[in-house]
Amino acid sequence: MDKEAGYPSVQKHAKRRVKPLQLAIVFLATFSVSYSLANYLLWPNSHSEAIPINAQAVLAQCRALHLTPGPPDNFRSRTQSDRFVQGTKPTVIRNATIWTGLDDGREVIQGDILIDKGLIKKIGSVDLRSYHNVEVLDAAGAWVSPGVVDLHSHLGVDSSPALSGASDTNSLKGLTLPWLRSLDGLNTHDDAYRLSISGGVTTANVLPGSADAIGGQAFVIKLRPTAERSSSAMLLEPPFSLNGTYVDPFQRPRWRQMKHACGENPSRVYSGTRMDTQWAFRKAYDTARILKEKQDAYCAKALVGQWTGLGDFPDDLQWEALVDVLRGRVKVQNHCYEGVDIDGMVRLTNEFKFSIAAFHHAHEAYMVPDLIKKAYGHPPAVAIFATAARYKREAYRGSEFAPRILADNGLDVVMKSDHPVLNSRHLVYEAQQAHYFGLPANLALASVTSTPARVMGQDHRIGRLIEGFDADVVVWDSHPLALGAAPKQVFIDGIAQLEKPYTSVKPKSVQHVPATPNFDKEIADAIKYEGLPPLEPKPAKADVVVFRNVGGIFLKDPTTRRVSEVFTSASADGVVVVEKGQIVCSGAEAVCPAALSRSDALHLDLEGGSISPGLLSYGTPLGLTHIPGEASTSDGRVFDPLSSQIPPIIDGTAIKAVDGLLFGTRDALLGYRNGVTSAVTAPSGGFLSGLSTVFSTAAPHKLADGAVIQEVTALHVALSLSSGVSVSTQIATLRGLLLGAGKGDLGQRFEDVVAGKIPLVIHAESADVIASLLVLKKEVEVATGTPIRITISGATEAHLLAKEIGQAGVGVIVQQRPFPATWEERRILPGPPLTQASAIAALVAQNITVGIAVDPEPSSVRNTRFDVAWAGLESNGALGKAEVLALASSNLETLLGVEDSNVNADLVATRGGADFEGKVVAIISPRSASVNLV
Ligand SMILES: *[C@@H]1O[C@H](CO)[C@@H](O)[C@H](O)[C@H]1NC(C)=O
Ligand SMILES: *[C@@H]1O[C@H](CO)[C@@H](O)[C@H](O)[C@H]1NC(C)=O
Ligand SMILES: *[C@@H]1O[C@H](CO)[C@@H](O)[C@H](O)[C@H]1NC(C)=O
Repeated sequence: MDKEAGYPSVQKHAKRRVKPLQLAIVFLATFSVSYSLANYLLWPNSHSEAIPINAQAVLAQCRALHLTPGPPDNFRSRTQSDRFVQGTKPTVIRNATIWTGLDDGREVIQGDILIDKGLIKKIGSVDLRSYHNVEVLDAAGAWVSPGVVDLHSHLGVDSSPALSGASDTNSLKGLTLPWLRSLDGLNTHDDAYRLSISGGVTTANVLPGSADAIGGQAFVIKLRPTAERSSSAMLLEPPFSLNGTYVDPFQRPRWRQMKHACGENPSRVYSGTRMDTQWAFRKAYDTARILKEKQDAYCAKALVGQWTGLGDFPDDLQWEALVDVLRGRVKVQNHCYEGVDIDGMVRLTNEFKFSIAAFHHAHEAYMVPDLIKKAYGHPPAVAIFATAARYKREAYRGSEFAPRILADNGLDVVMKSDHPVLNSRHLVYEAQQAHYFGLPANLALASVTSTPARVMGQDHRIGRLIEGFDADVVVWDSHPLALGAAPKQVFIDGIAQLEKPYTSVKPKSVQHVPATPNFDKEIADAIKYEGLPPLEPKPAKADVVVFRNVGGIFLKDPTTRRVSEVFTSASADGVVVVEKGQIVCSGAEAVCPAALSRSDALHLDLEGGSISPGLLSYGTPLGLTHIPGEASTSDGRVFDPLSSQIPPIIDGTAIKAVDGLLFGTRDALLGYRNGVTSAVTAPSGGFLSGLSTVFSTAAPHKLADGAVIQEVTALHVALSLSSGVSVSTQIATLRGLLLGAGKGDLGQRFEDVVAGKIPLVIHAESADVIASLLVLKKEVEVATGTPIRITISGATEAHLLAKEIGQAGVGVIVQQRPFPATWEERRILPGPPLTQASAIAALVAQNITVGIAVDPEPSSVRNTRFDVAWAGLESNGALGKAEVLALASSNLETLLGVEDSNVNADLVATRGGADFEGKVVAIISPRSASVNLV
């Protein structure tokens, strides 16, 4: 930094006496004269003060301390963006349905958008007469929105794929580190930039992690690649002082961002308590306060010319950013979950007089809206996940209704990704879910566009579609609040980001805002029970239940187990009569005439909804944990034979998940209420986990009727490049076990696999590992002469070997939304708009039996019905309703060895339309001879 150059450098060098008149001339020539300065000039209190040579710079700096951040006054008259890339052609998007974000998110304009020079030049009817060489995109009525804005991301610092050489999220050098900058770890090669752009994300606030109370400064980036290929070139409005070059002291500063975190994370990392963390905050803020007061006292004197003994402007590189927080020039982004922590932060803001831009994660915010309103300055916004919850104590009382409740209390709601915790490609899915659970559509769209833009201090240029704003625009293939909405094109700074976008053909029904169900009772209960409302289903009191206005019935064939649509009615006038949990009559009204008038029956109107097979869940430790982050609430892990010493007393024993089942977990009950009636779970382990089981998600305990549906379903192993033992050792061990090296009970289980009696489910992600497994399968089959049943789960790279996997007769279980979290998962098939086929569609095309696994968090189990519907929506018509239901029912049963003879044991009655328009209202359960109301 050039100390002589001016602001923000401070004088450190020679001082000489300057006559007041000389000084007056300098000031009058350069600056507008402040009252105190004028005072000084007119009545200089001393002719003998030591006036430093850089007095002007110091005074300018002092005056600049009181400038509030924001764009320059003439910002709105700019004709070209500071991010404009020379040579970018103007583009007109014709005939779009434009959600502008204005009128509190209610304005929709039918028309065109002209973008040029990195800016939105015109919205409405565009006249191109003064333009040439314009790209034209015919939107044909498609929805257009502002680019999606992620208020909370670790994109680029918590890298994808995760590599130890690129993990720059958390510093462990102290609890309060306001001097750190996420920019210093911003990796420009992260695979997720392109993926997140393909989900419509154009801007992200890249935050340091939550291991520290004050983790450092955050930086807002645009996701597109830049010509310079640097981290700095990605920044949106970097603070002027960032690179230490000269800054005009009369220019309003730009907003800065800072990460704070309270609660479990900083306490855990530093083996402290909440008390220690809170003290660390107070100590840091006190340090900043003292420095700020010194600066203010210094400037009070400097501005009236009392230079004697003043010395240097008090500054400190480590604390200047926190001083800026106290000056109201930093957007504090505060990871803070529980009432207790929010209370501590609210006290801190009032003690030190600074405001918080947003509480992030904040799973308990909806319970304490009045507390949040007591924060200093203004109520913080609340930035949350939609349904990801219960992963640790702080998230245990999280509610899917929080966005709605917060909005009802007048608080700003933001949906965020915490990428890569949630893949920010699907940030709009968070807004969709928030909308499904009651957040009005205008606020749901705002929650990922205009609201986060405002909360990060960038709403003068992004987050809404306004003439003169940055040209960050998404053209969608359906309404952005409809399930599976994907961009057809994404513009950042006016540059089209998708080179050759693929669009899946979608039904007309997803072109409008979904008509969501009524959750008023559930919302009231979430508040009444502080996030823990009773979830147990209630059996209908009547023996006979008549479902009316049924639009479709899907059942599994008793012999082939295939799911098919056995009844469909365009006028939704179907009837299903259930007696003691068994369907006794179904079809058109005329088929079951007697049922309609039965007065002893419970009549349920499905409003055109359907009856379909109960879904099966796989892929999470559901049934083995209440709170994954709390060891004392979980079954725990099995000994790993390749990396730990197995106690001799259990050596040779195959561990059975059924022995550790925990019933009545909130995630299991929420699954049931959303149509997931059973789950397969294997013990949590490393290479060899053991034997899975299948259980009812509604059962109160193991001894209840139908609680354990099948004690043992399959044998499970996992192979990974990051297991700590070589893959070759893992394969060799598996080969040995398959060829008879196992002893005792374990050896017997492998014999069962080799004899084709139970499937072997192998978790493997990498195509190379999968290829080795296909070779091993053949080798074992040649040796024994019997085909073995192998299922590959994980299988992120399976699409690369789809043909070979199909020929080998191996089935796969994959997640619907692949993500390159690790190196062995990096070669994903992302699906539209980046590739024509989704991974599921590509695997199904090879006649592979494909099942769907949910994201490893048990809280995602409840969303299985969305996952399967989404798989259909992005399959370009390849997967119909029956096929997608099979992904999470009959196919999974086949792949996991579920052999329940009662194939239609649980049937799900959904009221209302598909996807986000329907609500599960009852489970028809022959097992418990009842209809369970949820
Ligand atoms: C806009 O698109 C819709 C839907 O494709 C179409 O019906 C309409 O005719 C188009 N309008 C214009 C002006 O092109
Ligand atoms: C430093 O930042 C300013 C303002 O952001 C910018 O104009 C200038 O080009 C930067 N200088 C360097 C060397 O990066
Ligand atoms: C998949 O099965 C269908 C129907 O049996 C058959 O026509 C098709 O050739 C098969 N595809 C492959 C890749 O084996």
